[in-house]
Amino acid sequence: MFLTEIKVIEIVDLVGRYTADVIGNCAFGLNCNSLQNPNADFVTFGKRAVHERPYGGLLDFLLFGFPNLSRRLRLKFNVQEVEDFYFRIVRETVDYRLKNKEKRNDLMDSLIEMYKKEQAGNTEDGLTFNEVVAQAFLFFVAGFETSSTTIGFALYEMARNQDVQNKVREEINNVLGKHNNEFTYEGIKEMKYLEQVVMETLRKYPVLAHLTRMTGSDYSPEDPKSFIAKGTIVVIPILGIHNDPEIYPDPEKFNPDRFTDEAIAARPSCTWLPFGEGPRHCIGLRFALMQACVGLAHLIRGYKFRFAPQTEQKINFALESVLMSAKNGIHLHVEKI
Ligand code: HEM
Repeated sequence: MFLTEIKVIEIVDLVGRYTADVIGNCAFGLNCNSLQNPNADFVTFGKRAVHERPYGGLLDFLLFGFPNLSRRLRLKFNVQEVEDFYFRIVRETVDYRLKNKEKRNDLMDSLIEMYKKEQAGNTEDGLTFNEVVAQAFLFFVAGFETSSTTIGFALYEMARNQDVQNKVREEINNVLGKHNNEFTYEGIKEMKYLEQVVMETLRKYPVLAHLTRMTGSDYSPEDPKSFIAKGTIVVIPILGIHNDPEIYPDPEKFNPDRFTDEAIAARPSCTWLPFGEGPRHCIGLRFALMQACVGLAHLIRGYKFRFAPQTEQKINFALESVLMSAKNGIHLHVEKI
């Protein structure tokens, strides 16, 4: 694949190229070639979309706290260049598919069908062009960096816990042996321990460390101190819940056995929230788990990951970012098997 000898690699950037390629392909139907091309637009604009805000983020409190006012003031969440990039990509893709009558059975096909309805006057079920761009953009932004940071943290923990890494590799080889050494959907679903590793990674490193909700009615428990009035914005501290020793004993320890079926069943609900919960939970959950397991299975099967002198013993988190990420990246010693 990408390595023939021992090297120290910044792993988050590398896996970001993989997730950009996967989601670019599935959301926009495009081969982005980010792994080959170090300056690939999808990676550059994907990062800018997540991290660059108009006015340096100074007006974010208005956008999140007062969405109606922000709409009236026509405030934007993204800088113009980023917006232009995604509009251009979607415009070209839609025009190409309509002109060539190309169908790929992907998200873009569904969006185009809804766009056609809107063009035919069905505003109820149809989507305007702006809405098509917004949907494709949301998929990309919601799925690209969330997934790559998760894969990066999983590799970091497996480099620290060699026993876990060896167990994952053994499972991958066993399952692939049963499936003619081919990667199939069924095979990946059989890699149960690998999935547990991803779940434990998301417990220790929930990419979105908190959720916000607005109460739909008054909450009046017996203890009046806990009363919450209708319309209050409530912050749910996922990171705190995931590190509560009463729920997860010795929370600093990376232990995928916390996610066997029995261990999950023994815990109360809503104690593992990396994808949120309720009607607005992450719609990419299955996609994200599959994408992470496929990427990790390829990497762990072919390469051994270890700490290098540059690897941080304790990760420094980027405090300015809304997503939980390693400030200095994750540098690992990678050796081809
Ligand atoms: C490890 C990867 C991922 C994590 C940790 C993650 C996490 C989250 C979280 C915490 C939310 C908010 C849920 C809530 O408020 O209850 C969310 C929403 C969302 N996610 Fe993900 N996500 C991931 C991957 C993806 C992928 C791959 C896609 C699409 C392909 C995606 C699409 C979305 C969308 C569209 C929403 C908004 C849903 C709505 O508001 O109704 N996510 N995600």
